[in-house]
Amino acid sequence: EESTLAEAPPMGWNSWNTFACDVSAALIKETADAIVESGMKAAGYEYVNIDDCWMTEERDEDGNLQPDPEKFPNGIDAVADYVHDRGLKLGIYESAGTTTCGGYPGSLGHEERDAQAFADWGVDYLKYDNCGDHYGLSAVERYTRMHEALEATDREIVLSICEWGNNDPWLWGHEVGGSLWRTTGDIKPLWTVDEDTWYHGVIDIVDMNEPLAAHAGPDHWNDPDMLEVGVDIDGYPGLTATEDRTHFGLWAMMAAPLIAGNDVRNMSEQTREILTNEAVIAIDQDPAGKQGRRIKNTDGADGTEVWMKPLANGDRAVALLNRGERTRPILTSAREVGFDVESAYIARDLWAGTVTATAGMIGASVPAHGHKLYRVERGQSDDAVPAALLSINTDE
Ligand code: DGJ
Repeated sequence: EESTLAEAPPMGWNSWNTFACDVSAALIKETADAIVESGMKAAGYEYVNIDDCWMTEERDEDGNLQPDPEKFPNGIDAVADYVHDRGLKLGIYESAGTTTCGGYPGSLGHEERDAQAFADWGVDYLKYDNCGDHYGLSAVERYTRMHEALEATDREIVLSICEWGNNDPWLWGHEVGGSLWRTTGDIKPLWTVDEDTWYHGVIDIVDMNEPLAAHAGPDHWNDPDMLEVGVDIDGYPGLTATEDRTHFGLWAMMAAPLIAGNDVRNMSEQTREILTNEAVIAIDQDPAGKQGRRIKNTDGADGTEVWMKPLANGDRAVALLNRGERTRPILTSAREVGFDVESAYIARDLWAGTVTATAGMIGASVPAHGHKLYRVERGQSDDAVPAALLSINTDE
């Protein structure tokens, strides 16, 4: 049976990108508080997700998973209550193999017991990974088993399929009850892939996820991995503010799940502003549920691109992306982004907050690794300034 738990791409937070195995009840509770106090909850962030390493190295003598008593001294249910009391939902992590990637007990062969434990604890979301021995079983078989086990509980639990795009989950993930599926290997706070480790960055993930647009829609989302906006971890340069905005803007254009990965208890005002930009989030969460596409590009990997995402009310989101290393002008038109011939449009710059009237030209000077993101609608507005101010020579 297909679920309807994620009509819009899920929004929330997950411990992995910043904290890796360093998870605890205190971290999850403090994070839930910060999600409320920072305005993230008001902006739509809902799931507070514990990733790997929350349990002990062995099941108990009855075969039950045990939360690590040092990390979660009152169990997962106490954390779930705390999170629910703040109007948020709790996510947890397991793996469709003999172990998790961190080496903890996996759920393969224990699906019913584990799903029931998650339901009893009050878990709302399961990220289901792909580590450990698979006993020769296909991904479809292993993920179907967990889906059926979750269905057999009386709790609604979102199933997030995390098999890294290895078995084309966009072709079967929805049928086995997944609301989202990872399309790539792991992201790190990098602009592009690190060819020593093969960890991915923003722009190479974009190139892998973009062609899968036809497979996305309400409750069946491509998941290009969690956000690295504001993530600061040892061994990585991190993203610049420009790159953070491009990352967030392109995830919105791709109708991607918006799962923050930074330390939201200690984020900068700049990071907070990026993560809570409601106009950008509205592009991501748009009820038409269409994943945007690249509609034009130049010069390949270092070039400029125009992206378009059709929105439910007839507006179009338009992104001008500069992948290169120097500022460049990027120009498109209302016709090129799919509007019928008309003569009056309003382009809202969703990062600058400006509103511009245009007869059809949409263009800007875009810095290296930067983007411009517009919501374009037909018609006229008293707020709008004339198109000349949107000329391609305009400074950032
Ligand atoms: C691999 C996944 O892709 C990551 O997102 C994270 O969940 C780790 N496993 C945890 O071990």
